[in-house]
Amino acid sequence: MPNSVNTSQFSDKLAGYLEKAKLYADKILVLPNESFQKTLAIAFALCLAGAVLVSGSAVTLKPLQESNKSKDEKVNILEVAGLLEDGTDIESTFKNIETKIVDLSTGEYSDSIDPKTYDQWKAAKDPALSEAIPPEQDIASIKRKPKYAKVYLVKQDRQLKSIILPINGYGLWSTMYGFIALQADAQTVIGLNLYDQAETPGLGGEVVNPKWKALWKGKKVYNFTGKELHESNLSEKGQSIEIGEVALGLVKGSVDPSKPGSEYQVDALAGATLTSRGVSNLVQYWMGKEGYGLYLAKVRSGRG
Ligand SMILES: Cc1cc2nc3c(=O)[nH]c(=O)nc-3n(C[C@H](O)[C@H](O)[C@H](O)COP(=O)(O)O)c2cc1C
Repeated sequence: MPNSVNTSQFSDKLAGYLEKAKLYADKILVLPNESFQKTLAIAFALCLAGAVLVSGSAVTLKPLQESNKSKDEKVNILEVAGLLEDGTDIESTFKNIETKIVDLSTGEYSDSIDPKTYDQWKAAKDPALSEAIPPEQDIASIKRKPKYAKVYLVKQDRQLKSIILPINGYGLWSTMYGFIALQADAQTVIGLNLYDQAETPGLGGEVVNPKWKALWKGKKVYNFTGKELHESNLSEKGQSIEIGEVALGLVKGSVDPSKPGSEYQVDALAGATLTSRGVSNLVQYWMGKEGYGLYLAKVRSGRG
């Protein structure tokens, strides 16, 4: 009842305003075109109509934008995991992917955040959900890192097949955002997809070139020296957990597959040393112990 009263009051008021506006418009329109009052009123009416049109479109198009953004994200995830082919049904394929939140400080899954609504890169800008990276650790030049990360697990018959991890880091002109996909061994790369960047097309922008992206498949991330153990875990559970040394990176020229160490190397982008360095740095950072290192070590040890 109060709702219907409110609605009819609003309609009455609106009708009143429109009536007044019409009377005013009639008065204005009979004025000569040179009249200052008429020029001002027409300009105002045009601004008002424009503002209504723009804000109306922004409001009505928002759900469509949100849905396109979510679809784009799914496409990027499926692509990096090698699950996107011509005619792939995005929604049904995505049903095999479980989204989880990882606490980066412990490498454990966390239920305290809803993965459906969590935006890791928005969180990285929120002081309550992120932390400043000390300059000496900030090799990816991102300044802040989220406390929680959103990871995507591809499963088949409840068996883990691959892990997809969001990554970011500065190139030459821009912060590049993307995903890296690893096999269930948390060591072998399936793909790297830097879907959002503003490097120069033809130079650093070649990060999107499918031929270059294909070079990542099968590369290894960690060199296990047996030395780098995570101390907190050693004392906590009396078990060692080896994070490993991040060996994966870009090298100038063409990688010779017959040379030892080539399993950790990807060709740098020609004429784009600085973007290439940015890519190496972001991989180093996010695969390292400040990023997903501890989580991936736990996956490898069967505790993730
Ligand atoms: C207009 C312009 C745009 C450039 N864009 C990039 C870029 O996106 N990424 C990059 O690494 N280098 C870019 N460079 C080149 C760098 O300034 C630098 O020369 C290059 O990274 C050196 O790479 P090289 O050692 O492989 O030749 C650009 C240069 C110019 C003049």
